[in-house]
Amino acid sequence: MNLYQTVTDDETLLRDGTIKLHGPAGFEGMRKAGRLAAEILDALVDHVAPGVSTGALDDIVREMTMAGGAVPATLGYRGYAHSCCISINHVVCHGIPSDKVLKDGDIVNIDVTPLRDGWHGDTSRMYLVGDVPLKARRLIDVTYECLMLGIEQARPGARLGDIGAAIQHHAERQRYGVVREFCGHGVGRLFHDAPEVVHAARAGTGPELKPGMFFTIEPMINVGKPGVKLLEDGWTAVTRDRSLSAQFEHSIGITETGCEIFTASPKGLNQPPY
Ligand code: MF3
Ligand code: CO
Ligand code: CO
Repeated sequence: MNLYQTVTDDETLLRDGTIKLHGPAGFEGMRKAGRLAAEILDALVDHVAPGVSTGALDDIVREMTMAGGAVPATLGYRGYAHSCCISINHVVCHGIPSDKVLKDGDIVNIDVTPLRDGWHGDTSRMYLVGDVPLKARRLIDVTYECLMLGIEQARPGARLGDIGAAIQHHAERQRYGVVREFCGHGVGRLFHDAPEVVHAARAGTGPELKPGMFFTIEPMINVGKPGVKLLEDGWTAVTRDRSLSAQFEHSIGITETGCEIFTASPKGLNQPPY
């Protein structure tokens, strides 16, 4: 079977395990979806505060997504009934919005994926709720650095494993744990597609990066051990040792010379403090 598949951007794509190589129309589609996703995360800066429920934030995400001419890709995805994921403190990912209220000192990841004109803009950032202890702010800074060091590796001719190697090296230098159970993924017309983008890997391994590949990088980094467990709800992943966890995510496209970040903040609000 072929590893890669060059696609024209108006065809229906199957989840057939191939790595899609997109053209200019794909880049344009991802730019628009990614921009809306980033604008939603920008707008949330003014709403994340002590006393706000995660359900209220989910309502804002849904309204902004629809106002932007998109639908939340998570709504109805494999039975998931919300417009984003909101993961607080030791929640690693896929926290379910609810009437739970944010409190002073919390750290929160909000992960949105507007589906706009057939393209998925998948991105997440960390937010600080009130006064956050240094230990948590340090985790957030290092996690953002991990994402950007991974992105720096993303260029034609590099291997997918170079990304995970850069992330793992930086996280483990600070004795943090890199989560293995959840990965980045091919993205585009499909929400979750090949390849799997692992965040701990050996440099020089994995498929070669080629222009037109679209994928996410979304490292989850724990203050403690890398292990996670799934809660009874079947979605919420938490650290086994209950240590704090942080995550940032961008959707990117490989260009002739490097990569384009589709989900960069138009306001420069890519990392806290905002
Ligand atoms: N946005 C998540 C990701 O980065 C996926 C969430 S799927 C959901 O891949 F169903 F949990 F919302
Ligand atoms: Co993703
Ligand atoms: Co996401």
